[in-house]
Amino acid sequence: MKSSRAAAPAAAPVAVVILAAGAGTRMKSRLPKVLHPLAGWPMVRHVIENASALRPAPRLVGVVAPGAERVAAAFTPHAVVVQEKPLGTGHAARAALPALAGHRGPVLVVFGDAPLITTATLRRLVTACTRANAAVGVLGFVAADPTPYGRLIQRDGDLEKIVESRDASPAEKQVALCNSGVMCISGALLPELLGAIGNRNAKREFYLTDVVAIARAAGHRTIAVTGDEAEFQGINARAELAAAERALQQRLRAAALDAGVGMQDPESVWLAADTKLAPDVSIGPCVRFGPGVSVGAGSEIKAFCDIEGVRIGRDTIIGPFARIRPDSVVADRVHIGNFVELKATRIGRGAKANHLAYLGDSDIGEASNIGAGTIAVNYDGYGKHRTIIGRDAFVGSNSSLVAPIRIGNGANVTAGSVITEDVPAGALAFGRARQVTKQGRAGELRARLKARAGK
Ligand code: UD1
Ligand code: MG
Repeated sequence: MKSSRAAAPAAAPVAVVILAAGAGTRMKSRLPKVLHPLAGWPMVRHVIENASALRPAPRLVGVVAPGAERVAAAFTPHAVVVQEKPLGTGHAARAALPALAGHRGPVLVVFGDAPLITTATLRRLVTACTRANAAVGVLGFVAADPTPYGRLIQRDGDLEKIVESRDASPAEKQVALCNSGVMCISGALLPELLGAIGNRNAKREFYLTDVVAIARAAGHRTIAVTGDEAEFQGINARAELAAAERALQQRLRAAALDAGVGMQDPESVWLAADTKLAPDVSIGPCVRFGPGVSVGAGSEIKAFCDIEGVRIGRDTIIGPFARIRPDSVVADRVHIGNFVELKATRIGRGAKANHLAYLGDSDIGEASNIGAGTIAVNYDGYGKHRTIIGRDAFVGSNSSLVAPIRIGNGANVTAGSVITEDVPAGALAFGRARQVTKQGRAGELRARLKARAGK
């Protein structure tokens, strides 16, 4: 990272504009397109994070549609402007001008629905523009099927213009080099270039792509920088979203393996963009990580676990078949076994819940043992309540702990108990009916049942 930044001559600060005001109708969804999840994040967050890594200054600006509050919220803490009507990419970029007032360095314009573009590729474009002193630089790629894309028309090694597919002549349609949509435009020229865009074209839209020809006509240099099609896959429909998910998962798995994470069957492990796995973590097959998970060194996540929003310590074993829900913390050397569900729960060092338990809104102290079938009864139909268990406590199998409730250090809850009152430290609690045993009466009962059944 350091070396590429050092290589950029007189690296002027880059501002970033992310266009996300399009309708996204082809998703056929109530959820705005750029909020559809991808590797655990809303799609647009990938674009925001990858562009933020360039340390945009003075700012990163999101362009959103009127009333798109949730899209706007996804940009927090960055600036957001509203494009009042969806009149095209050039019109959308213009909406960002007031937010960029005074910025004279490069302005990177990217689309909110192209989440696979890496920081390195964005940086490569900015660096190339700076070196060539270009007014406009465009990231292009050779598309397997160029049909839907604008074409980059080159002349003498520079970029002459971009023509949208619908407006292209038969000869221009033969050009395989396509517009990714990512552009780097001189901030000093931006108001002038955007101001000159008209809408005399097939779609009657203001095309951002017109800035290339406009800049050339004004005597400025414009260039194309090429990249890999896989990075420029835009998302318009569900099938493309699924393809992007596959591509992103491949990247995340490869990075994890590279960092020393063991995976028996990487193809079946689903990671989130922010999953943090220490070296020597080992992951079994069919494990899904939702957002907000970190796992410490030496821990093992066995097959078929679904894990989200949890900090897991070192040398801990999770699963198989465990489910961990958000706001949980699992310390070192813990065992969470099969069919155990945690939600907003802290598990202390060395504690064990090995089979069939629901621990919601709970605090389990160090080295405590939670028996099979234990339920933290956290919900009364109106509110959630906490179960607090001290260290070295023992909860027998098939116990219900009716929250709010406290079980003290070293306490012992006998199996099958329904615990409704706090159990002090060191106490032994029975919360079940006393057993009645009738000597020799088993045969009598059987005879009675047999007669009743007519056998
Ligand atoms: C655009 C490019 C095309 C390129 C293709 C790459 C233009 C004119 N065309 O076409 O050359 O090959 O992307 O995928 O730029 N948006 C707004 N406001 C609008 C219109 C669009 O914010 O009024 C946003 C959309 O949310 C989206 C992005 O701009 O994030 C691109 O818009 P889209 O309609 O998908 O452009 P394309 O027709 O695909
Ligand atoms: Mg598009």
